[in-house]
Order: sequence, then structure tokens, then C-alpha cells
Amino acid sequence: MSTPTPFRWLRRPGPHTPPGTTAVAVGATDAYAPSGLSYGADYNPDQWPREVWDEDVRLMREAGVTVVSLAIFSWARIQPTEHTWDFAWLDEIMDLLHANGITVDLATATASPPPWLTTKHPEILPQTRTGETLWPGARQQWRPTSPIFRSHALHLVERMAERYGDHPALVAWHVSNELGCHNVDDFSDDAAAAFRAWLRERYTTLDALNDAWGTAFWSQRYSAWEQILPPRLAASHPNPTQQLDFKRFSSDALRQYLRAEAAILRRMTPDVPVTTNFMVMGETKGMDYAAWADELDFVSNDHYVLPGPQALDELSFSANLTGGIARHKPWFLMEHSTSAVNWQPVNVAKKPGELARDSLTHVAHGADAVCYFQWRQSAAGAEKYHSGMLPHAGERSRLFRDVVALGGTLRDLAPVAGSEQKPARAAIVFDWDSWWTSELDSHPTDRLRYRQEALDWYSAFLALGVRADVVPTATDLAGYDVVVAPVLHVVPTDLRDRLTAFVEGGGHLVTTYFSGVVDQDDHAWLGGYPGALRDLLGIRVEEFAPLLDGESATVELAGEQLEGTLWTEPVDVVDPDVEVLGWYKTGEQAGRAAVTRRTVRSGDSAGSAAYVSTRFGRLGLVPVLARLLDDAGVRSELPAAVRGDVELAVRTDGTDDFWFLVNRTARPVEVPDVAGDVLAGRRLAPSGTAGTPGTPGTPGTPGDGVLLLEPRGVAVVRRPAEPTPPR
Ligand code: GAL
Repeated sequence: MSTPTPFRWLRRPGPHTPPGTTAVAVGATDAYAPSGLSYGADYNPDQWPREVWDEDVRLMREAGVTVVSLAIFSWARIQPTEHTWDFAWLDEIMDLLHANGITVDLATATASPPPWLTTKHPEILPQTRTGETLWPGARQQWRPTSPIFRSHALHLVERMAERYGDHPALVAWHVSNELGCHNVDDFSDDAAAAFRAWLRERYTTLDALNDAWGTAFWSQRYSAWEQILPPRLAASHPNPTQQLDFKRFSSDALRQYLRAEAAILRRMTPDVPVTTNFMVMGETKGMDYAAWADELDFVSNDHYVLPGPQALDELSFSANLTGGIARHKPWFLMEHSTSAVNWQPVNVAKKPGELARDSLTHVAHGADAVCYFQWRQSAAGAEKYHSGMLPHAGERSRLFRDVVALGGTLRDLAPVAGSEQKPARAAIVFDWDSWWTSELDSHPTDRLRYRQEALDWYSAFLALGVRADVVPTATDLAGYDVVVAPVLHVVPTDLRDRLTAFVEGGGHLVTTYFSGVVDQDDHAWLGGYPGALRDLLGIRVEEFAPLLDGESATVELAGEQLEGTLWTEPVDVVDPDVEVLGWYKTGEQAGRAAVTRRTVRSGDSAGSAAYVSTRFGRLGLVPVLARLLDDAGVRSELPAAVRGDVELAVRTDGTDDFWFLVNRTARPVEVPDVAGDVLAGRRLAPSGTAGTPGTPGTPGTPGDGVLLLEPRGVAVVRRPAEPTPPR
């Protein structure tokens, strides 16, 4: 039996810092300093008889579990009726975990209201845009704006803080659970009232709202605030700015709720850090996490692998973006799966090697904790076919052996803890407003998928073996050489000015079709597309020319014939400093520019602004990106032989860099010329004989021989830090 690595949490800084503690910058603010990587899971002991708990902690220790998230869905157990409370079981499990050296990220338990509450107050139940009620029987059956729900939930938060604020096992508060997962889109009367209040705050006057919403169109002018509703099912397309503002409002409403829970916790237990688990993954788009991060002491994320050809790319993209949201400080992987989930149409089990590879890919992008949903696979309920750390098969299973092995690897990686994502030379900008707005209805095409486009560019970076950070729009871009902002649809004046300054400062900007088209109110910039970015790009488009399903246009670029789909445009080059990199060869645009780049000289620097007017997809973008990166002088840090097969992600603590090399294939890959101490993985050859297979080394072997990556394996190498360019 192994001893779990203790997870050392420091107290909050500033006025909350108790005497004798040190503040260490981590997460969105300053909260904790780990002494190793944390390992664990959601733990639901209330689903099991008491005698199972002893086996749980025994096996947790065997696996090296250091932290569990407790009581997430326990409201009905803690408060079985409105006036009765049962903390005894929770006291006991908190004590048992503590006695076994396992720390607790304690939920406020507000995620799923108990039946007595929804029976007494059915008016807390959310409603869809078609007016249907989301009834109890599943979970998260509450309106984010319900005052009744809020008063009951906040009372529970107080009781939890009162009872466990001083418990020695407690290391963090876990507010609710995946806020907005099922209830972000609530169109109820509570939501309507709160939406009006939010709009008053944003616009102050009805005239300003009428202007912003363009209500002169279709006789929508409002003469009183009470007339305004959420964009419920309407006879035709609802007002687009109303839709956009409702998305902003819905995200903000949950953020306000998060803030309300956090305020109680900070008042009652000022030295315990507060987090909540984000869902930076796939098409989960209702919550603007870039804005939410400010509410937390450290960022946490949940991620589940989505099957398909870009499964691993998407995992890396999401982890990378989580790091961007956490401002490149370490973050907490609160949930992912050891194997299959239960909520996809077909739930595929992970193949050998994938459990560790997926977890370590998150660590590569800044996760300091590797946690799963959930510790012990449920025997009953909707998630009984969802994998856990301890499967139905029990401890005598490959899965549990893999879990124990990963615990050992994470201990070997303790030196990585606290290090930050090392800035790449390139970045992809990710913009919630553009995500929300570019996919609204009554557009040139309903086929456009914002996140997919961003992911396709990321896949192209991975294929070329070039690191790119994925960052929210507000990030300072000045330190990057290349910034790709795909489908940057919403470009207010200040963003246009920032991008212009970036290019004038010598940066290379790449953007695509449907970018720069509207302002913050979703009003079209006039005078020709791409609107706000027209002058910077030196081009002008009079009319969009989206393609029907099955249509494509051939583009010749760098000697290659590429297929564009979804979108084309008649691009007019209007600036003499614009070079045409790719030409349409077929279709309506044949003979016109498809990919352009304007060189912008300013003083000694020469930046550029490139435009891609069609959708090339993840494979077609590879030669496009290769050309743009090459000209910008941004190259892969990986040996040529392994680019595409291996992902490189780098963390740094200022003294050491940690290179994570992720084998993206199901076969062994040999990586030559990676100097440094091997913390995970192994070498084949001693220094000086790179490329010659030799005796396998062991973790910790210094030198610069060939690194062997097992099928789907990950190696981690510690090297003296190279200077980090200012971000
Ligand atoms: C998450 C949730 C967990 C569990 C998991 C299953 O959305 O937070 O409670 O349901 O999904 O994948």
C-alpha cells in the first residue's frame, strides 16, 4: 500500500491571509500551492452501505488518491425535509478520509434540489423556450434566477460552511456542480424579470436598448421595460440582438449565482479557496468561462472525450483553452473518465494506454490535479454504466491496475506541480461572443460551426508539430508572433484597434471568412466585408457566397490543390501590400483571390494580416498554416520525423522546463534528440548514440538519447528552462 502524496493548500492572500502563511500565485487569483500533483475523483459514499467505505479508503490509498470531491448530489440526504438535517454520515466520512490522509474538495451540495423543495415550490423549475417545464427526476431542476431556490440553496451553503469550515480534511469548496449543464437556457418568468433587470443595467434607457436591438425592424420597438421577454418560441426568427443578449444574460445569471455562493463561503471561511467545475469541452457553449474565471480562487474543468477523428485534438484543445482561461496558471482537472461514459449514443471503452494518456495530456496543459467522475462505479441510477476508478469488476481488473499505475506516474511527476504553461509563439483566439453570434439563425448558412473551425486550425498546428496556445479574446496578444482568430465574427472597435496594434507591432494575424462582420450589438459594419477588419486585411468583399452541401471550390495554394467548402466570397484586393497566396480555380470565384496576406510595415517591424475566405477543414488547413507559419518564422520544436505523431506541450517553473511528449498513435514512436532528465517514460539509447536502439533506460535517466514513447504513451522530460518570451 502506498502513501498518498499530501496536497498542501495555502491560505488565501490579502486580507484573508492568516499570519504565517504565504500567498502563492495560482489560478485566477492566488489560492494554493501544491507540493505534488493531486489525484482523485468525485466520491459518492451516500450511494453505498457504510461497510463499503472502509474498502473505499483502503483502495484509494492503494491508488494514491489524495483528494475527493464530496457531497455533490447529497442535498436530499443532508436535508431530508425542510426542517431536518442529517450531517452525521458526512461527519463520519470526512473524518474517515482525513484519518487516511485524503483531502476533501467539499461540495456545497446545491446542485440538485430535493423532492420536498420542488414539490413545495414547483415555480423553481426551469422552462424551455417552448414553455415546457423541466420536471424533477433527473438533476439540476432549478432556475438560475429563482429567488426561492436561491434562498434555500444559500441557506444550505451556510450550514455546510458552518459545519465543515474548520474540518482538517477540507481543502477547497466546490460550488454546486457544472453550473448551467442542464439549466442555462431557462425562459421562465423569473428569467424574464431578471433579464429585464440585466438589460436596464446594460442600456440604462429604453432608447438605447431599442437602438442596440434594431427594433425599428419588424415593428419591435419597446415602449416599456415590462414588454421585453426572453427569446421564447416566436412566429419567425427572434431578434438576433435579443438572442445574443439573452445568451450573455444567461451566462451572467449563473455567474451571479456562483458569486452568491462564493460570497457566503468567503465570509464564513475566508481561508478556504473556492472553485467550481467548468465544462470547457465540445459544444458546451452557454457559459462564458473566460469571464467566470475571475470569480474563482483556482480554475477547475471537466472534460470527456468525444469520439471521432479529432477526439484527441479536442481533448488537447480544451485543456489548452482551460489553461488560457486560468491565465496559464495551474488548474484542477475535476472530472474526466477512466473509460466509457454513459451519455453518448454509443459509449466506447478506452483502449489500453488511453486512460493515462488522456489524463497526462491535461497535465501537459497545466492541470495540477487529475480527478475523475467518479471513484466507485455506481450500481444503480442513470450513471451505472459510466466508468469509475473502481469499476463494477472490482479491484482485480485492468482498469484498477491502470488507475494504480497512473497514481505512481503522478507521484513521479511531483516536480511538475506549480509550473505554468510555457507560452508558445502562436495562439488561437477563442471568442464567446463570436461563438454565440456566428451560429445564430437567419444567417448566410446554418452550417457554420465556430468551435469546429477553431478546432480545425488547432488540428493543423498539431499535424505540423507546432505549439499554439488557445486563449480567450481578452488575453494580451503582444508576445505572440502568430495569432489565428478563426471566424472572429464580432469585432467591436476596441478589438479592431488591438488587432491592428498587434499587426503594426510586427505580429502576424490570420483570420477567416465571416470575421469582422458585426459589432458588439450584432450590427453589420457597413461599406463591405470583412467590416471592421477590412482595412487591416486590405481586401473588400461585396457579397458572401456560401456553398450548398456537396459543393466545393478548388483553391491552388503553394502548389497544392485544396478543396474549400461551406463558404466562398468574391474577394477584391484593394491594398497594394496585399499578396494573394491562394487562388480559386473552380466555381463562381475562379480566378479570384481565396487566401490573402497584407504586409504591414511600421518602423522596423513588418507584421501581416492574412485572410482565408473558405473552409479548408482540418486536413486542408495544414498546407495553408504551414505556409503562413513558415513565412512568420515559427517552426516546430519537434524532430521532423515525429511531427504529427507526437504532441509537444511545455510547462515551466522558471528554472526547469517540462516537456510533455504525447504519442498520438497506437504504435511505439522513437523521438530522437530530446535532452533532459526523464521523469516519465524511458530512453532507448545513451547520450551520443541517438537513433540507435539500445537497452531501455529507466525513469530519471539523464542524457539526450532516443526517447521511446509506448503506444499512446506519454514521456515527460525535465530540462533547464529556456528563456520565455514575454507573453
Ligand atoms: C458530469 C457531471 C457528473 C457526471 C459526469 C458523467 O457532467 O458533473 O456528475 O454526471 O458528467 O460523465
